[in-house]
Amino acid sequence: MKFDICVIGGCGHVGLPLAIMLAVKGKNVCIYDTNDANIAVVQSGTIPFFEEGAEPLLKQVLKEGRLHFSNKPDVVSESETAILIIGTPVDEHLNPMFRVMKKVIDDLLPYFYEGQLLILRSTVYPGLSKRINDWFCEAGKNIHLSFCPERILEGKAIEELESLPQIISSFTKEGVERSSELFSLLTKDLIVVEPMEAELAKLFTNSWRYMKFAVANQFYMMANDYHLDFYNIYHAMTHNYSRTKDFPRPGFAAGPCLFKDTMQLAAFNNNNFHLGHTAMLINEGLPNYVVSCLKKEYDLSEMKVGILGMAFKAESDDIRESLSYKLKKILEIEAGLVLCADPYVKDRSLVSEETVLQESDIIIIAAPHKRYKQLSIANKKVIDIWNILNRGGKI
Ligand SMILES: NC(=O)c1ccc[n+]([C@@H]2O[C@H](COP(=O)([O-])OP(=O)(O)OC[C@H]3O[C@@H](n4cnc5c(N)ncnc54)[C@H](O)[C@@H]3O)[C@@H](O)[C@H]2O)c1
Repeated sequence: MKFDICVIGGCGHVGLPLAIMLAVKGKNVCIYDTNDANIAVVQSGTIPFFEEGAEPLLKQVLKEGRLHFSNKPDVVSESETAILIIGTPVDEHLNPMFRVMKKVIDDLLPYFYEGQLLILRSTVYPGLSKRINDWFCEAGKNIHLSFCPERILEGKAIEELESLPQIISSFTKEGVERSSELFSLLTKDLIVVEPMEAELAKLFTNSWRYMKFAVANQFYMMANDYHLDFYNIYHAMTHNYSRTKDFPRPGFAAGPCLFKDTMQLAAFNNNNFHLGHTAMLINEGLPNYVVSCLKKEYDLSEMKVGILGMAFKAESDDIRESLSYKLKKILEIEAGLVLCADPYVKDRSLVSEETVLQESDIIIIAAPHKRYKQLSIANKKVIDIWNILNRGGKI
């Protein structure tokens, strides 16, 4: 075989760090991706998004000749193992879009050969791994299909690929053995379960996080409605009290995974997932809550409102499903002018941080980038749900 591993979707946030790390561990890796522009960027030694510590390793494996690229699926046939990292989005009715995965598998099926190992890495709807296994069987292709979910925190993949335990599942004994051997290059802490258990473990984890953020956001709004600063209560709850150690701070909870995965779990359970749906309403409702609080105090139509931080989370350039953009949309209807800035995000509609700070009457910190801790904003209304300025979170 020309390649040990083919990473399908290998220029993405999940695929690229994994491809690099497997190449670092000595594997001959080929990235197959349909995004030519990103292939060119990665081939030149640049990571197209923020990923801590990834670029020097990318340069190293390119120099050593262990990372290859293709925009054609025939590299799948030339690889011992394929790792598929194509997501299952949810549609406008919040139902998973299986046809995305079906099309990918239909297109790739001719390139797989008897006995090949295919590892599904992106989060999938429970039971989808089995369906994919059936599609291969019906087409007369006996491959070893595994589901080994990615659990890294975007931006920390290089560190976490080696520090997190890896969940392994497969439909064959050989699939479990070969997947375990592959991931043991990264971690010795392997957990072997059945495919549907692995699918649910991933979805339960993400929904759990999403619900925890919703609890913090609900409490924040409750305190604020009673004209109390949530952070005084937060401090009282968490100071030297181990049982609330993992209580998150309130703030915009968004991004490409948590919302989508919670809704997938709801769809899986016949839409009977009250906690998940409630979490979605609370988290998605926070931008509107901020604006409605401001409207009680000010005539926003006469004011300029600035938003600092457009990424979906701190120290990130990723704007996928960012609630900062939802806030921007609401304010574009309600306010005189909306000015947005983010030092990490490339978006031509943004202005400089200085412009936001100088020209806005009200400033909303929407992503808690560490650099905002240094801001000294005087004589302006500041909304700081994360309490990054350490002045409290009251609106
Ligand atoms: N981003 C995260 O932190 C994270 C963490 C854990 C799990 N996941 C899961 O991983 C999935 C992928 O997430 P991501 O952030 O890497 O997405 P992404 O959009 O960054 O990457 C997907 C890549 O696949 C490529 N691609 C799309 N269709 C293709 C096709 N038919 N053939 C070949 N390449 C194709 C795209 O060009 C892109 O480079 C998510 O849907 C999620 O389920 C993501």
